[in-house]
Amino acid sequence: MQRQPLVIANWKMNGNRHLTSQLAEALRESGALLNDVSVVVCPPAVLLPAWQSEVFYDDVHLGAQDVNEHHAGAHTGEHSLQLLTETGAEYVLIGHSERRQLYGDSDDRVQAKVDAVLAFQEQKLKVVLCLGEHEHERDNGETFARIEGQLAKALANVSAAQLAHVVIAYEPVWAIGTGKTASPQQAQEVHAFIRNWLQQRYDAAAATVPLLYGGSVKADSAPALFAETDIDGGLIGGASLEPEAFLAICRAAQARRS
Ligand code: PGA
Repeated sequence: MQRQPLVIANWKMNGNRHLTSQLAEALRESGALLNDVSVVVCPPAVLLPAWQSEVFYDDVHLGAQDVNEHHAGAHTGEHSLQLLTETGAEYVLIGHSERRQLYGDSDDRVQAKVDAVLAFQEQKLKVVLCLGEHEHERDNGETFARIEGQLAKALANVSAAQLAHVVIAYEPVWAIGTGKTASPQQAQEVHAFIRNWLQQRYDAAAATVPLLYGGSVKADSAPALFAETDIDGGLIGGASLEPEAFLAICRAAQARRS
């Protein structure tokens, strides 16, 4: 099954209007790249309107870094699905390890957010479910148990039909922002485990789910990671703030097509 390569930029709490114009221009000038690779940019939510006007006619998709599970109401500082889609978001990251570790996104809350996004009928938003083990879990041989637990909880209410709107990003916590990338073999092993788990649960629908690797992916580490069978692309933090590096990573994903 040929899956379109997918590369997602996660700007976290970085970037500004200037970088928006710079990266949008670099993507506009990237030629055929955007035919072969789906590129999604997740800037801080306040930059979505700036991105929306930059990429309106181009094949660059936008995403949000998080969403509140409620439709509206007294949730100071939060963003609703309605608002995010109005400002162009087609994807939403859910369960990023920084949200889990720093902002209290428990497995229950992750599940509630996944359910809210998939139940939102006005726009077909895609969930990018982020999961991954801590270093001590890897050291104790608990990686697969951790991944399985996160998958089972987050996808508990997700049907095979809804799975068409799910992307999974494997991001080992010890590799995020640390410069320590998982080796292609380590990453492939977990991706194969995820694909298998999805197959057992969802049968044929599992084959369409893009599986991304994230955690210190750089221009030089991307080609070997993206050469692995079950790594369909990447979720890119630090390197997505440098247009040249980000484009090089997208080109590495493009090579999956050849
Ligand atoms: P990093 O971030 O590429 O800076 O490690 C990845 C992520 O957190 O999504």
